[in-house]
Amino acid sequence: MFFIANWKMFGDLRTLNSLDNVIKFSKTNKNKFKLIYCPPNTLIRPMSKRLKNSNLEVGAQNCHENDDYGAFTGQVNSRMLKNVGAKYVILGHSENRKAGENDNLINLKIKSAIKVDLKVIFCVGETLKEKKNKKTTQVLKKQIEKGLQSIKNKSKIIIAYEPVWSIGTGLIPKSEDLIKSVLFIRSRFGRKSPKILYGGSVNSDNINQLKNIKSIDGFLIGGASQDPKKIIDIIKKTYI
Ligand code: 13P
Repeated sequence: MFFIANWKMFGDLRTLNSLDNVIKFSKTNKNKFKLIYCPPNTLIRPMSKRLKNSNLEVGAQNCHENDDYGAFTGQVNSRMLKNVGAKYVILGHSENRKAGENDNLINLKIKSAIKVDLKVIFCVGETLKEKKNKKTTQVLKKQIEKGLQSIKNKSKIIIAYEPVWSIGTGLIPKSEDLIKSVLFIRSRFGRKSPKILYGGSVNSDNINQLKNIKSIDGFLIGGASQDPKKIIDIIKKTYI
């Protein structure tokens, strides 16, 4: 199972001390799960140093679509992220879609990440309005088709299904709806389906319900992932 910790715009150098308990925990439960921390860019290098010799990995939360260097003030490309220790990058997150990223831009970003050999956690999901209008599968189809357009080798792609209305709200989809969406996503890929994660308000209470959905390969966790106790609890409960 995958557990991806998306720290969003939280954390500073001191926060890295909180990882020690998680490292200890992961060493005693080796090979059972894959835990990937995606901190802000400022922490990628120090975090990857700290996680050296552990089985935890580091990823980034976004990148520029141009994998080469260039005059793009304030931007960071996939090559730079890889260079400081990132192995993964989250792309297409709804918080960035809301800030203006469209499917075509996300497609370019995914290509730039694959080019430098980063694994991509590609986020898809419907808004509340789209859900109410019964447009969920239509939205997922469009996001996947456009986001992955002309990408033949999808071996570096992990899909994260994150309904926008469940992010940071404490709400999660009904199990039957979640299964339906995950199976729909899987059906878009045929025999070589990528790993499919669920994200949106995952916590140590609702994990008991979520872990029973066998079609899910792991979780993308926001708020709860900044607290080492909570993330350990979520992982423990997944395996009990
Ligand atoms: P929360 O777990 O805080 O709802 O955030 C989910 C998310 O956006 C992960 O990418």
